[in-house]
Amino acid sequence: MADDVLPRDTIATVENSVRSILRHQEENGAIVASPDFEQYHFCWLRDGSFCAYALDVAGQYEASARYHSWVVKAVSGIASLIDDVIATHERGELLDPAFMPPARFALDGSTVIDDWPNFQIDGYGTWLWSLGQHFALTGVASVPEEFLESVTRVARYLSAFVLSPCYDVWEENGEDVHTSTLACVYGGLVAAGRLLDNTHYEVVAESIRTRLRGAAARGGYFIKSSASEEVDGSLLWLSTPFRVVELKDREFARTVALIEEQLKFEGGVRRYGADVYFGSGSWPVLTGSLGWYYVASGDLGRAIQYRDWIATHFDTEGRLGEQFGGERRDPQHYQEWVARWGPPARDLTWSHAMYVILSQAIEEAGH
Ligand code: BGC
Repeated sequence: MADDVLPRDTIATVENSVRSILRHQEENGAIVASPDFEQYHFCWLRDGSFCAYALDVAGQYEASARYHSWVVKAVSGIASLIDDVIATHERGELLDPAFMPPARFALDGSTVIDDWPNFQIDGYGTWLWSLGQHFALTGVASVPEEFLESVTRVARYLSAFVLSPCYDVWEENGEDVHTSTLACVYGGLVAAGRLLDNTHYEVVAESIRTRLRGAAARGGYFIKSSASEEVDGSLLWLSTPFRVVELKDREFARTVALIEEQLKFEGGVRRYGADVYFGSGSWPVLTGSLGWYYVASGDLGRAIQYRDWIATHFDTEGRLGEQFGGERRDPQHYQEWVARWGPPARDLTWSHAMYVILSQAIEEAGH
């Protein structure tokens, strides 16, 4: 639609992406994963919590606060489910992954009953991390009363299930323990320890670090999961933002090198080698994560290179899709997914979020 075409110099800007995130936020605080892709008409804790952080670094504190209040309500709505699964787990009884707390909610905060692979604990960890960042960035020293119950409940949930196999950050492989999921949970529990002033959660977080150092880094780099020795783009989050490994950690540096060697496609970063989702193009979310890592490690040149890669992928209406190039890399799988769900999301809210996060990080580092 010609009317929606934006002036070129306003397209790949932080302001445009912040506006997109705000446009994709409901009055109640929920943030839709993508408005144009039917499967994504929900609010994921993973996507939404990175979006809230992007809103905070862009100074949109009120919008971020609304998202966090929405999560508090969504978590209160499943309070008895969370309490029940913790109790069942503590009794040593088996649980059905189909009836675990969900990865995503309807925009009104209610649970969606369907066959989505819902048991994904990373999003709960990412939420606690993002909430901790929100309070730190807005100067809130002690957790407001209305947050305490949900924060405690989620921290207890994560502590109970951190080493249980569950679906990964790509909503796949429900039988395995995933290294990047461990990192998200680590980040969440460290935040919970601080927010609740309870060292127990820090102790649990420390045990995650031990697990990660041992099982997940056997061959000199961090592996994708208990079942795969591949690398995965989401392993970038081990250092930035979740800090379960030091930036200069040798195994982590090797992991980043392998990600760049094996997962780069047309200048951006794919999810993992064997990925077939929409032909597995390059994702702004991961390309942004790599740039973010380079800001933290002081290589602004590379950070800018990855930011610029994202910048060239906005369309003329200022939208930023989920992934790019799958139709060229693996046309057969691309077509299979298009036949199933239509073309990939053209405007993905957490793609904008990573663009904002990376751009602001570069700006703060002095460029
Ligand atoms: C991705 C998830 C994401 C969801 C919604 C899925 O395809 O694998 O990481 O949370 O889409 O954006």
